[in-house]
Amino acid sequence: MSNWKRVLLIITGGIAAYKSLELIRDLQRRKIAVRCILTRAGAEFVTPMALAALSGDKVYQDIFSLTDESEMGHIELSRDADLIVVAPATANIIAKMRAGIADDLASTTLLATGKPVVIAPAMNVRMWEHAATQENIGVLKDRGISLIGPNEGDMACNEFGMGRMAEPSKIVEEITTFFSVRAGDTTPRLGARNGVLSGRRAVVTSGPTHEAVDPVRYLANHSSGRQGHAIAAALASLGAETILVAGPTQQPDPAGVTVKNVQSAVEMMAACQAELPADIVICAAAVADWRVANPPQDKIKKERGKNGNKTSAPPVLQLEENPDILASISTLKTERPALVVGFAAETNSVIEHAKSKRISKGCDWIVANDVSPGTGTFGGDHNTVHVIDGDGVEDWPVMSKEKIGFRLAERIAQYLETFS
Ligand code: C5P
Repeated sequence: MSNWKRVLLIITGGIAAYKSLELIRDLQRRKIAVRCILTRAGAEFVTPMALAALSGDKVYQDIFSLTDESEMGHIELSRDADLIVVAPATANIIAKMRAGIADDLASTTLLATGKPVVIAPAMNVRMWEHAATQENIGVLKDRGISLIGPNEGDMACNEFGMGRMAEPSKIVEEITTFFSVRAGDTTPRLGARNGVLSGRRAVVTSGPTHEAVDPVRYLANHSSGRQGHAIAAALASLGAETILVAGPTQQPDPAGVTVKNVQSAVEMMAACQAELPADIVICAAAVADWRVANPPQDKIKKERGKNGNKTSAPPVLQLEENPDILASISTLKTERPALVVGFAAETNSVIEHAKSKRISKGCDWIVANDVSPGTGTFGGDHNTVHVIDGDGVEDWPVMSKEKIGFRLAERIAQYLETFS
């Protein structure tokens, strides 16, 4: 367990506390160790014994317990964690966090910690909607505390509205995403050796390509590489040996991923071929369709005569087609990867074009997205995609590119578990 990530789970007093048992079990399955702090009110809803049995660790309850303090005080509990999760987070603990009240082990730990904190609020709809709670939440958000939920739905108190705690599966997804695809994070990937994709090799293309016009100019496109890089990070987080063939981008190299930097489509093709065979190939790069035929060795000059008058016509660029990396890997006769996934960036009739692209390229899945101006997809934080396979179309809600990468990696892991 030494390479496991560590969550300090603070369980406060709400009916949703029973869901913490499922949360602990699901986090442990993903190689995330959980240590619990249980408040006095929390213990009215869930027993320390059940939490200890599932977490495989002591449950910390009392700030004045001599044994607890000598074993591990509030400072050590925080120091030992990578992330602090408060679930359920009652209106009371939220108010205490905002005010800096430290009157029990949970609130003292939260006041003393420098670690990232995530809260999953759970309370009656009126308490949630109360100006005090909303103000408290706003302040906590401004301080960098992340929120998961709450959701709208039926409540234990027979009312309906906002305030239900997010489902454990959603909390697990957020926590895993936090650990696995935080941009620029250089810690070892969560489960990198033990994950569901361990033993699998993945090649991912990402970013634009630059096609030389001459030694100083190039043809390019608006791709930021963010989606492709997020996919590579997510595959690595699930344990795949991941090679990212990256065109020129500003994205940080995802940790746990081997990055091969290239400029042009021809270089990208060669780099991909050199990394085969692989189990999974994801072509997320926005490869230029054409390159300039025979770019000159020297810079093309703009000839000017006296007084700056033009003396030569603008150069005519002769283009030739680039190799299609996705199609060539999809149609390999020998050692074809078990799963080849392409992307379709479309500006109209997204699904129809993507469906026919899946057939014409010969890949297994196409991830289609709308990149028309105004969607903010190119270079933006979020994406709305449709995953098209032989069975049909799956419409995914708008999500951060990191989450899409994670969800795609999960889908890939499930597919490979079932089919290969
Ligand atoms: O044909 P189009 O560029 O729309 O296809 C997009 C898909 O094909 C993407 O997955 C992209 O990475 C891949 N592609 C490629 N090589 C090319 C052109 C596109 O791998 N030369």
